[in-house]
Amino acid sequence: MSVFYLTTPIYYVNATPHLGHAYTTIVADAMARWRRLAGDEVWFLTGTDEHGDHVAQAAAKAGVSPQAFTDRISSAFRETWRALGITNDDFIRTTEPRHQKVVQAILQTLRDAGEIYLGTYGGHYCFGCERFYTEKEIVDGQCPDHRTPLTWIEEENYFFRMSKYQRWLIDYIEGHPDLIRPERYRNEILGFLRDPLQDLSISRPRTRLEWGIPLPFDDRYVTYVWFDALINYVSALGGPGDPRFERFWPHAQHLIGKDILKPHAVYWPCMLRAYGEALGRGDDLLYRHLNVHGYWGLGGGKMSKSVGNVVEALALKDRYGNDAFRYFVMREMVFGLDADFSEEAFVGRLNADLANDLGNLVARATTLVARAAPAEKPQLSILSTEDQSVRIAAGETRHLVERAMSEFAFSRALGQIWEFIAVLNRYIDTTQPWALAKDPARLGKLNLVLVTLTDSLRFLGIVLQPFLPDSARRIREALGDERAPNLENAAVGRIDTIPPVTKLSGLFPRVEDKKVAAKTVEGTPAAGAKITLADFGRIELRVAEVVAAEPVPKSKKLLKLTVSLGAEQRTLVAGIAEHYAPADLVGKKVVVVANLEPATLMGIESNGMVLAGSADGKLAVLTLDRDLPPGATVR
Ligand code: MSP
Repeated sequence: MSVFYLTTPIYYVNATPHLGHAYTTIVADAMARWRRLAGDEVWFLTGTDEHGDHVAQAAAKAGVSPQAFTDRISSAFRETWRALGITNDDFIRTTEPRHQKVVQAILQTLRDAGEIYLGTYGGHYCFGCERFYTEKEIVDGQCPDHRTPLTWIEEENYFFRMSKYQRWLIDYIEGHPDLIRPERYRNEILGFLRDPLQDLSISRPRTRLEWGIPLPFDDRYVTYVWFDALINYVSALGGPGDPRFERFWPHAQHLIGKDILKPHAVYWPCMLRAYGEALGRGDDLLYRHLNVHGYWGLGGGKMSKSVGNVVEALALKDRYGNDAFRYFVMREMVFGLDADFSEEAFVGRLNADLANDLGNLVARATTLVARAAPAEKPQLSILSTEDQSVRIAAGETRHLVERAMSEFAFSRALGQIWEFIAVLNRYIDTTQPWALAKDPARLGKLNLVLVTLTDSLRFLGIVLQPFLPDSARRIREALGDERAPNLENAAVGRIDTIPPVTKLSGLFPRVEDKKVAAKTVEGTPAAGAKITLADFGRIELRVAEVVAAEPVPKSKKLLKLTVSLGAEQRTLVAGIAEHYAPADLVGKKVVVVANLEPATLMGIESNGMVLAGSADGKLAVLTLDRDLPPGATVR
């Protein structure tokens, strides 16, 4: 067993929770749950950052006091995390006395050690960022972030002697290759440290800003919000000397987005080093790892119209459920890289990975086991190669997921679990337990398949817990698995009897693509209303030749078509499988809508639509009554 302390950034209370905050908090939660599953002693912290200009300005705009304002937004964060099933052990607010006390103690210690001095500073200041910008950073005389004019400010302030730690910091980062990860962010910081590091202004005159923690040695000033905020990671544990701090701090890992890399990878280590020295603890106070993820964007893809902003994106958790939301964000974003959020991609994954792969597996397996109710105990000594390979695959999956999680590679971890799900779906297809059930001579074999399936679902009910907590619990409940979910139990090959199992279907109901599509089409005229020729002209109709056609696995209605439009080939998914055999379509010239937004159906991206008419349950695909080359325009 090891000890693990994980933090998220503390979020500014000038905005309500959105997709970006939710992503960080969800991956942190999955990690905390994973480590608890592994038997570790975990402390998982999140919270809100409540001081500074940003917040003071937002409160003034809302016409309420900063305290009332921060109380309100901080509660909104707490509520959102509760609704998302986040299992944080503590929630820190920087306006709490326990935090202020530690900030002031650290400031006093550093001041006494000569690490903080009073100096004059003149510079270009951005009120939005609450920081000065150097000449080099300014873009066209404006803030590089906000693109607003900067204000020249000259004032006396207190400074932290950060510049003197530059050499030490470079050496420390070089000596600890995985301190900042993934590597791209470590390189970014080493690049930044090639230029001289300035001392850090850590105070703001009260004449300009009241809303902050007063400096203990000069109450004309409040603490600069970053200096205050970073200390939350320490203050939440009570600070040095507190047993909780001494237990968890040596295992501290931070999780942040790339936007706040510099304060965490430069200011914070220097602060910890200076403080460690003042306490006679040297480098002991340095955190273990800084884990940095990329940024979510909206609308980079072709089809993200339906989700207009980051707040709406988070609202999708209410429409499609927490587990689906958690799954999508963790699977879609490769940790460390940027990703794009769209409702279509979300629904695509929900239907393909959750409804189809996982949901169908659970429904098929629990139905088979619940129905069979075998009287005999399976003879585990006569396992077939297929039964064995499922056990081996489970062992490998566990190992690979463990490795991925140790690197914060959430998407890869899920990819590994989904490979195992595919193994199980294939196992059912190959062993055909429904056929075995009909043959009394093969009941022994059937029992082996059923015990393997039950055991595999028990395995999934455990390893899925950090990612899809509700669904994993439902799987364990269907299997009557009352063991504590922990990694020790996550193996296939542990049970030799088939327990009573309850059928579990509809774990993730499919979302009809039509519904999503309907939401995204703007200005669709009501049925029967007239459209103009220009409206019609927006639809690009073309002749297409069907080059290949095949059934879509696990779908009764869909066919996957490859069509030629002359210059290009496209994949289309058409709901015509009940009316046409694939072979009958090959070589046919049909008419397709060529400029339809892509849609993912059963995991296949469809780029266009075949026109067909239907009446009284009969369906006919439109063909040509005279030959035209593929690609020809239809009007
Ligand atoms: N209060 C500071 C952090 C102080 S930590 C000592 C702050 N707060 S914030 O509310 O702006 O939150 C920033 C963090 O929210 C990012 O680092 C990231 O974790 C998350 N995200 C906000 N928007 C995001 C995206 N669009 N994409 C991914 N994560 C983003 O900065």
